[in-house]
Amino acid sequence: MSALFTPFQLKSVTLRNRIAIPPMCQYSAVDGFTNEWHQAHYAGLARGGAGLVIVEATGVSPEGRITPACTGLWNDQHVEGMGRIAASIKAAGAVPGIQIAHAGRKASAQRPWEGDDHIPENDARAWQPIAPSAIAYGGGLPRVPQAMTLQDIARVQADFVAAARRALAAGFEWLELHFAHGYLAQSFFSPHSNQRTDQYGGSFDNRARFLLETVEAVRQVWPAHLPLTARFGVIEYDGRDEETVAESIELVRQMRERGLDMVNVSANFVIAETQIPWATPAFLAPVAQRVRSEADLPVASSWGIDDPKIAERAVADGQMDLVMIGRAHLSNPHYTYHLAQVLGVQKPEWNTLPAPYAHWLSRYRGAAKVAAAQ
Ligand SMILES: Cc1cc2nc3c(=O)[nH]c(=O)nc-3n(C[C@H](O)[C@H](O)[C@H](O)COP(=O)(O)O)c2cc1C
Repeated sequence: MSALFTPFQLKSVTLRNRIAIPPMCQYSAVDGFTNEWHQAHYAGLARGGAGLVIVEATGVSPEGRITPACTGLWNDQHVEGMGRIAASIKAAGAVPGIQIAHAGRKASAQRPWEGDDHIPENDARAWQPIAPSAIAYGGGLPRVPQAMTLQDIARVQADFVAAARRALAAGFEWLELHFAHGYLAQSFFSPHSNQRTDQYGGSFDNRARFLLETVEAVRQVWPAHLPLTARFGVIEYDGRDEETVAESIELVRQMRERGLDMVNVSANFVIAETQIPWATPAFLAPVAQRVRSEADLPVASSWGIDDPKIAERAVADGQMDLVMIGRAHLSNPHYTYHLAQVLGVQKPEWNTLPAPYAHWLSRYRGAAKVAAAQ
């Protein structure tokens, strides 16, 4: 009996297994609009058998995109294309999720394969990034953001609410707020990037305010029966991790009280100078487990969980409720099927491949056929 291949229920939504495909930007949109690439990409991933497919970081406003080629939900006209994607994920038996995001001071960047750095200011494609304080990320993202006014803060929170409404209208059943990876929300919580002296900076309560208010506002428009989650960096790997993790767990508890249903535990990526243990498989799993037990909230996590035994153990040992597996699914969209095979999961438990594939690939069917022929 595989723990990874047991269903998972959150609110009224049931995932067919504990495998989720995390949001992964495709940098292939024009003016925020999705196209054939996104359609085929997400349908293909969902057909591979994961329980949940989360559509990439989608800008709540044009200036909230990471690159000019990121998807958006700041316009009602974006809903139709996103609706087709949500429907194709659902038709393949997975739950359609989406991550809504504001990139803050990391916005106005080139695509990764074009350099991943800020677009030069004099380039017509560039725009002025905004952030809690006028402090640049540095490295390849040197542009100094404009410090947000209180009106800016209220406007971005309203943008999150409007994007959540559009995500619902498009048919998504799982909403993830992007509060990680050094983007806007994460940069409000981190003292590295937030040096405001008003009610949105300084003390824990003030740095937490933007995130808590946003959760609360989105919860009011996102239906109570559907999961509202946040991807949140809980550790910076900057030498003061004990303090950061403890503070982060406290914030997760407070987000839970405001209506958050799950946290997708990730890293902060607020500063460039860190000691991230990239070479250690599943390096965030122990941190995820700590958040799960101390914040008393269901947890998902990712980063390097691309080994079947490690993925199975992450759920069986209670490190996390959902395992997010990204790049392995880019390499092989049927990676979930591969996991089932390696873990020896057979029908009726494993019944998620579409029939035109399952007929030929399922070990159960193969065995039945051989038996019938004998
Ligand atoms: C191409 C690509 C795009 C990504 N885009 C996003 C994104 O939109 N939002 C996000 O939170 N993380 C993003 N990530 C991080 C992934 O969600 C995931 O956490 C990461 O790939 C680690 O998981 P893995 O080791 O299973 O690939 C991206 C990663 C990749 C490879």
